[in-house]
Amino acid sequence: MKYPKEYLQEIKTRLKISTVVSKTVSLKKRGKEYVGLSPFKTEKTPSFTVNDEKEFYHCFSTAEHGNIFDFLMKTQNLKFGESVKYLANLAGMRPYTFSKEDQIREEKWNKYKLIYAKYVEFYHKDLLKNPLAKNAKDYLKDRGLTIDEVKKFKIGYVSIDEKFKGDIFKEFNENEIKDSGLFYFDENKKKYVDRFRDRIIFPINNISGDPIALGGRILSDNNYPAKYINSPETPFFKKGANLYNLDFTRKLSNNFNNIFLVEGYMDVVGLSKNKVDNVVANLGTSLTTRQILTLNQFFQHIIVCFDGDESGYKAALRAAENSIVELKPEKEISFLFLPDKHDPDSFVNEKGKDFFEDFAKGNSVPIHKFIFNHYSMDMENNPSSRAIFEKKLRLISSTIKDEFIRKYVLEYFLEKVSELTPNTNFQYKKNYTKFTKSLKSTQNYYNETRSLKAIDIKEFSFLYILLKKPDLIRNNINLVENVKLFSNENKLLLEEIINQINNFEKTNVNSLQIDQSLTDRVIKYASVKHIISKNFNDDQKILEILSELIRDLKNYELELRIIDLESRFSKDLSEATFKELKELKKLQKIN
Ligand code: UTP
Ligand code: MN
Repeated sequence: MKYPKEYLQEIKTRLKISTVVSKTVSLKKRGKEYVGLSPFKTEKTPSFTVNDEKEFYHCFSTAEHGNIFDFLMKTQNLKFGESVKYLANLAGMRPYTFSKEDQIREEKWNKYKLIYAKYVEFYHKDLLKNPLAKNAKDYLKDRGLTIDEVKKFKIGYVSIDEKFKGDIFKEFNENEIKDSGLFYFDENKKKYVDRFRDRIIFPINNISGDPIALGGRILSDNNYPAKYINSPETPFFKKGANLYNLDFTRKLSNNFNNIFLVEGYMDVVGLSKNKVDNVVANLGTSLTTRQILTLNQFFQHIIVCFDGDESGYKAALRAAENSIVELKPEKEISFLFLPDKHDPDSFVNEKGKDFFEDFAKGNSVPIHKFIFNHYSMDMENNPSSRAIFEKKLRLISSTIKDEFIRKYVLEYFLEKVSELTPNTNFQYKKNYTKFTKSLKSTQNYYNETRSLKAIDIKEFSFLYILLKKPDLIRNNINLVENVKLFSNENKLLLEEIINQINNFEKTNVNSLQIDQSLTDRVIKYASVKHIISKNFNDDQKILEILSELIRDLKNYELELRIIDLESRFSKDLSEATFKELKELKKLQKIN
């Protein structure tokens, strides 16, 4: 059984060979090619090259070479059919099953392409020579288009004379024509009507460059009838799966890191006219994850540049929330907002390519910042609105599929959110700097403390006071009884100390009897040693120091629980966890 050539070619077109190879071989760009260490032998100097334009790889040290299918067969030990299945899936294509249905579909697909190719060709030429197309030509001229753009994008005009209809109905059967969506059946007139009659048409190509749908614009600036219409969804055209101008930009993808994603056909044409070629449009629907994944195959950085009006902003926000889900390490998505009343087309025509590109560089906002900024503008200055805000951000970050990106986006959100609660943070930061300070000085003093944590030193200091002032502690035993320590050794020691202090009168000694091996480290590392010996007889002062230590230890415990809960909440987003978290934060504030 043989796969149709077309099917295999579509896989090759949709997947960049360097992107697939780089999943297993680390590649560096060199000129038009990529180079890396050969996966076929161990070597120190790279002799393995990948060429996206020619769609093959070559290894100079082993003479292995081939296409994307060969690569998988040789490196992953797959059979041909298995590598096709694997790659078709990666390319977002249906598996090919060799069934009767597949065969019928293949035939339909060939007819479909043929109808579109003929239609597009005919009306493109017709625009240039049919006298009835004069208004359309004038309109395009008015909008600043030249013959170059009209040819490059194969723009056409469907004149009202219906010249083409007769021919096409002779050549194809009714079902084939109906399936194309180019004509629809008018129940009143009982005949087929040109869907794009009296419209300027923009062919929408699939990634391989075959026209598979149209966008059509009326010649006036009214919004009635609809300014733009698209081909309906057909068996071979799914809006969310295609991007206008992708077939063209795909070929240039090794020359650019960025791709501009705009809303309209005319934005693409206008930018292209101004020599900004790395641009695609998403056909007036909201951005789908499929489209993001496709663009990621070819470009590192997607810059979404929608119109500078309210609907453009709303579309951008929707695009941001949909696409952040797919954000991957080493890939970027940014948003560019144009001055009010501008769209990319009007902006680049007024300002030119250099200004546009500089403006894009200076004003693109990374996706996570855009989302944060948007919701923070919505937020009011009251606890409930702020809580909703924080929850929303956590919810959005929890949708991100890549666990590393998810972690860092959440971290960014939380850091910004914590700026809203300076008092809670102040407590935290104060403790934190104190911890690190004491850690630092102790580190300098005793080199071997390197492995000690700041919290250990707090514990040692706390225990140190207990050891040195048992009588004072016995009179204030309530202070220390509920303190929780973290190291097991210190817990033991605390238990023992309290035990002996409670029995102090009975044992009737003036110092505690504790195994030296337990107290050694306490005496060595307690950072309060000097201050205690200086104020040894000032009980008030010592109690103050003790209380402060206890508070720090309690806060540390809270901090750990809060961190734990925050990570739980980012996963389950449950109301109960959120409440518990709020309680803890309140407690932390009281301390
Ligand atoms: P715009 O109205 O911003 O298009 O819609 P534009 O490119 O700026 O139009 P011009 O400059 O007036 O010609 C952006 C996109 O939204 C879709 C189309 O894909 C359009 O390119 N759209 C718009 C529709 O599908 N239907 C409409 O009625 C309007
Ligand atoms: Mn527009």
